[in-house]
Amino acid sequence: MWWWLLAVVGSLGLVLKIYLEIIKGKCTSKADLTGKTAIITGANSGIGFATAEDFARRKCRVIMACRNIERGEKACAKIIEKTGNTNVVVRKLDLGYMECVREFVATILRDEPRLDILINNAAVAGTKRQITSEALEYTLATNHLGPFLLTNLLLGLLKKTGHSRIVMVSSLVNIIGKINFDDMTWIRKFDSGEPYFDTKFANILFTKELSRRLEDSDVVINCLHPGTIRTELLRNVPQPFKLICYFIGLLYFKSPDEGAQTTIHCAVCDATKGVSGHYFMDCEVRDHTWYINKKAYDEGLAKKLWEVSEKMTGMTSS
Ligand SMILES: NC(=O)c1ccc[n+]([C@@H]2O[C@H](COP(=O)([O-])OP(=O)(O)OC[C@H]3O[C@@H](n4cnc5c(N)ncnc54)[C@H](OP(=O)(O)O)[C@@H]3O)[C@@H](O)[C@H]2O)c1
Repeated sequence: MWWWLLAVVGSLGLVLKIYLEIIKGKCTSKADLTGKTAIITGANSGIGFATAEDFARRKCRVIMACRNIERGEKACAKIIEKTGNTNVVVRKLDLGYMECVREFVATILRDEPRLDILINNAAVAGTKRQITSEALEYTLATNHLGPFLLTNLLLGLLKKTGHSRIVMVSSLVNIIGKINFDDMTWIRKFDSGEPYFDTKFANILFTKELSRRLEDSDVVINCLHPGTIRTELLRNVPQPFKLICYFIGLLYFKSPDEGAQTTIHCAVCDATKGVSGHYFMDCEVRDHTWYINKKAYDEGLAKKLWEVSEKMTGMTSS
């Protein structure tokens, strides 16, 4: 009896493994990025690091936007050593603080004549509720408001450069996200997973709204789910859950290099040139409501989130 059970579970596990291997998307583009500049947020670890390494191999000027300069410099040295591209630099950016975002942008606008690719990759998950000195909730600020402000402040440079691309790294959990306009700092209910789900949904609404606003330009924006990847994203979640994920991850999760493929596809591939406002998974458009929140198509909701975000980030006065 036990042998039968083990054989069935083992076979199902094997079928799942084979299925996950088959559906893995791979960016096949050989695009050379000589003369181009990219900013990648959260580039010191996980898929941000893998994306930065890939762009460096393609001879891009890579700006690694990191909240911890020491960790950023270590990662940068590793990328330079691995790729031989010395045009890789680290700049301080903590997306949780709007003042820091503004300082980062001021440096970029002062020093960089062009910006071809902006990858909004950084995020936090599973943190405790934390209100910053700017009266914003830190997960909301890092995952949504910071990227919102950063992208808007860099739009002028992206437009000036021309044919530039913005990529929002979201997540499949956007499906269960929601936007509570009357409780944007989760005063009433804070479950450590909820802000992550909600902000990943906000990434999708932002992508859709900005893509509509950019219709008359040649700047494109897309969002994506990178897959489930062995990274440090779960560092803040409870230990038992982390352990379970670790062991399952050894068998079934993607490596950071595999997890970076859809980001790279959206940022450099010829097939995605001029494509905007879509949600990608495994290097393919997956706009179906199986993979994306049904409310992602609610233009009123996206517009309202935009206006609320403008006020919260100080882009407009309340
Ligand atoms: N891993 C997955 O299975 C998975 C699944 C779906 C979506 N994603 C998405 O993939 C993206 C990358 O995550 P990952 O898995 O590569 O995780 P990761 O290894 O934890 O990388 C996250 C990066 O974001 C940085 N970061 C965090 N807070 C920041 C802030 N306030 N300002 C600037 N940078 C900050 C981190 O810097 P520090 O090193 O200083 O903390 C780190 O470099 C995220 O958007 C995540 O939502 C991941």
